[in-house]
Amino acid sequence: MIGLYLAPMEDLTGYVFRNTLSKHFGCVDKYFTPFISPDNRIMKTRSKRELIPSNNEGLNVVPQLLTNDPDLFGVGARLIAEFGYREVNINFGCPSNTVTAKYKGSGILRSPDTMNRFLDGIFNGTGSVLKSYPDLKISVKTRVGYNDTSDFDEVLGILSQYPFSEIIVHPRLKKDLYGGSPRMDMFNKACEKLSGNIVYNGDVYTAHDFASLTERFENMSFASGGRISAIMVGRGAIRNPGIFRQIRTGQAMTVTELYDFLTDLYENYKKDFGGTNAIAKMKEVWTYTCGLIDDDKERSHILKSIIKLKSESEYKDAILIAKSKIGRTL
Ligand SMILES: Cc1cc2nc3c(=O)[nH]c(=O)nc-3n(C[C@H](O)[C@H](O)[C@H](O)COP(=O)(O)O)c2cc1C
Repeated sequence: MIGLYLAPMEDLTGYVFRNTLSKHFGCVDKYFTPFISPDNRIMKTRSKRELIPSNNEGLNVVPQLLTNDPDLFGVGARLIAEFGYREVNINFGCPSNTVTAKYKGSGILRSPDTMNRFLDGIFNGTGSVLKSYPDLKISVKTRVGYNDTSDFDEVLGILSQYPFSEIIVHPRLKKDLYGGSPRMDMFNKACEKLSGNIVYNGDVYTAHDFASLTERFENMSFASGGRISAIMVGRGAIRNPGIFRQIRTGQAMTVTELYDFLTDLYENYKKDFGGTNAIAKMKEVWTYTCGLIDDDKERSHILKSIIKLKSESEYKDAILIAKSKIGRTL
């Protein structure tokens, strides 16, 4: 059976979100943490909350690291292994200019030599984490280029030299950000050139999208002897946290279930981050939830009212209105 993964999303798919999703809907095979920038202060930052095992009990969590320095990768990966995680993921996808300017995230895609040196250090360097933790799996999540796809062949050539447990491909360029359509020709190319397990990521919003993709991948899927081991869902799972259950069991999320999930999520954020932060976090979630409102005018009206609100009572009023609008369309 093809795996179902929750994508890493900064400020969205942290431990509070993944625990709440697991409790209400489940059916996620791997939860990726939003990226963590490793350094020697890693346990003094908010990353600590993401990583400590007591915040991730019973979940199959894969921490993601964002760096291009093999020594710093080692610092983060060793901690991750000490905590008992079995896999660490490398971020070659982040399109933010502050990140890419330093040849990190998708910035590394414009310098295949930097990528090769980094990966060589991780897998073969004298300080490689694999020397102490040989069973630690290392996976990577990548875009298909920076400004164009001209370096992608070389990138694939480099990636294929290292024993990644999985290569997750989000087939967009850095310059695409999250717009336009996924470049399926580049995804097909990755499937042709790489020999390990490949995960598809991009624009799965509904169980129907998933079904169309798996049909398209039929002969390439893991189950039929191919190499596509999983499909990763990001924005679609913030909009509809029941998507994984629907894909696995056919049971669609009801509006009441969505409302209960969002109410619980808010309470959980409040407990761990305080009221003001909880509202800020829920506003971010609601920018995706509003995608369930079909009518354009209604959607933008409700979104505006949610973005403006400040107090808990305003928040509760606004989401009751939003709930009634979603009720008509789910
Ligand atoms: C707000 C936001 C934050 C994201 N943060 C991360 C991140 O921390 N690490 C990462 O690899 N990708 C990150 N991504 C990219 C997603 O993991 C995913 O690749 C992208 O959204 C495409 O998948 P989707 O169409 O299913 O959303 C982020 C995307 C968004 C929109």
